[in-house]
Amino acid sequence: MDHFVRRDGRLFAEGVPLTRIAELHGTPTYVYSEATIRTHFDRVREAFSTIETHISYSVKACPNLAICRLLQSLGAGFDVVSGGELARALEASGRGEEIVFAGVGKTDDEIRFGLRAGVFFFNVESRDELIAVSRIATETGSTARVALRLNPDVDPGTHRYITTGKRENKFGIDLVAARALAREATSLGGISIEGVHVHLGSQITDPAPYGEALDRLREPIADLRQFGHRIQWLNVGGGFGIFYRGGDAIPAESFAKVIVPRVRDLGCRLILEPGRFIVGNAGVLVTRVVRMKPSSEAGRFFVVCDAAMNDLIRPSLYGAWHAVWPVECAAASDVDLRPDEGILADVVGPICESGDFLAKDRRLPAVASGDLLAVRSVGAYGFSMSSNYNSRPRAAEVLVSGDRVRLVRRRETLDDLLGPERGLE
Ligand code: LLP
Repeated sequence: MDHFVRRDGRLFAEGVPLTRIAELHGTPTYVYSEATIRTHFDRVREAFSTIETHISYSVKACPNLAICRLLQSLGAGFDVVSGGELARALEASGRGEEIVFAGVGKTDDEIRFGLRAGVFFFNVESRDELIAVSRIATETGSTARVALRLNPDVDPGTHRYITTGKRENKFGIDLVAARALAREATSLGGISIEGVHVHLGSQITDPAPYGEALDRLREPIADLRQFGHRIQWLNVGGGFGIFYRGGDAIPAESFAKVIVPRVRDLGCRLILEPGRFIVGNAGVLVTRVVRMKPSSEAGRFFVVCDAAMNDLIRPSLYGAWHAVWPVECAAASDVDLRPDEGILADVVGPICESGDFLAKDRRLPAVASGDLLAVRSVGAYGFSMSSNYNSRPRAAEVLVSGDRVRLVRRRETLDDLLGPERGLE
């Protein structure tokens, strides 16, 4: 479900034609729909309303300050994984007590920053980190509230790069080591272990692995309690998947049905860290066709756009599939094309490697240079993973609310690009 709709052959973000946004702000531009974000946030909130739940929006999915502020106004806290994300969350909300600080390699400086900000939880991923948090908190005369991130060794059935809860992944503490740590932690100052954290991976479309993981946490939680740690919070992470090819999102209720009774049974309150589910369908990338180039295979084309893998790396990195279609077109998708209509195309960027593509082997209407294309469902891990590769300034970001268009990140300039290197000789 999203609020990008085609009216009279033109794609709109809520009440605004994407052609208008391209005129105002150029291309490539990320366009987000506030109504779509609100809808998905509400879906999570409603699905988990039967248990006390903190929804910590996972900033990494789409870190734009305007979106963080919007989510905070809806009642979200934040899940951050770096000093930079912590600074963003603080700028958006000003409230450290709404932030959980995760990440497998927080530096001492980042831990100090988290302590100063008074974060709600440190999600601690190793014995080494627990000792560091204890030492730094003791030095600074503070107490860190800690959730131990445990690795349940459960396969969530997603891409291997975004699987995080299996034994071979770098994340979390294995369940046997957790027992020893529960004992050792009783002698560590400056920390109060009040939670357990688990995050299985991302783009998970089957709720069953959540059930399996939570069942595996029963014993470690009992152990922790036996050693006097008052475990009151279970942080189940993020990972709720979305549909990239049509259809509505997997209902949040289907995850809630598996998660809520188990968390209740364990006598805990719930923390969730959703990212993609909230913003994934809420963004499109608007790009202009720069050149049409016939391939050496008859009937095939390279549609060369002004967006590239530096703007959206998901297709190149994970083989991810995103719908791509002209912004202005009577047909809404290839099923609406007559068999004799259209072209077979690879939609590519101008970057100097063959891994630079947004879509491969697509049947498209016969587009021409100058046409606008929309790449769909790029709200999560789209702009946030973009880079300056090939010295390309990063795209603009725009937030649409009804008929209102707000530039929420200006397009980078050549000065932004060169500034950090100038004046150093
Ligand atoms: N919590 C933790 C500890 C995480 O590592 C992540 C995502 C989340 C929450 C949010 O997960 P979500 O609800 O968005 O699935 N770049 C990849 C996704 C990487 C996910 C990293 N961790 C992609 O484009 O598919």
